[in-house]
Amino acid sequence: MQNITIAIDGFSSCGKSTLAKALAYKLNYKYIDTGAMYRAVTLFAIRKHWIDAEKNINTQALIGALPEIELGFANNPETHHSDITLNGENVEQEIRLMPVSSVVSKVSTIKEVREKMVALQRQMGKRKGVVMDGRDIGTNVFPKAELKLFMTADPEVRARRRADEYSSKGQYFSIEEIKHNLQQRDQEDLNRKEKKLIHDLQLLAQQNAPKT
Ligand code: DC
Repeated sequence: MQNITIAIDGFSSCGKSTLAKALAYKLNYKYIDTGAMYRAVTLFAIRKHWIDAEKNINTQALIGALPEIELGFANNPETHHSDITLNGENVEQEIRLMPVSSVVSKVSTIKEVREKMVALQRQMGKRKGVVMDGRDIGTNVFPKAELKLFMTADPEVRARRRADEYSSKGQYFSIEEIKHNLQQRDQEDLNRKEKKLIHDLQLLAQQNAPKT
């Protein structure tokens, strides 16, 4: 059977990566978590102290340092999943923590960051046989993907998923706090001025909104 490209888009904590990992495992495809890539760039900026407590980003410094940022995915023999590496260091755990989660949407609005990530993603997926999840995969990274999926989930379910993820790493937040973070990120994701993302996400979110 011929390999294809599978694009999975949707908001945070809707189960995109769970589905993507399962598909990649079943089909023996490569799984690329593009959110992890934006998170790793964010971690890089945090470590350089280019993001302050008010979430102001030293954008120029970060843009200037983009050529120094090398991202990759390494197979984790314990989980059989691929962990993200930042300049050779496995940062899979650290990128999931609140300091990164609370500012990653802002970092991902930087045009130059997006350009670099999209170019890398296209390079990583050029041979097909790939499952890629994110926000702009079916619309921008691989508009010709043979299979495009968009995922949504109830806000309560999303918050619980995220709470479980944090608590498995020894971090505890109230569901309300997590919901607030998710809502903020949804807004930031939707209001991004980049390309067709806003339009496509709004349209898809409207079409898929749970009926009240
Ligand atoms: O899926 P996630 O929560 O790990 O994504 C982290 C952030 O990265 C999210 O706030 C939106 C951004 N992102 C993006 O702008 N484009 C992508 N393809 C993937 C993620």
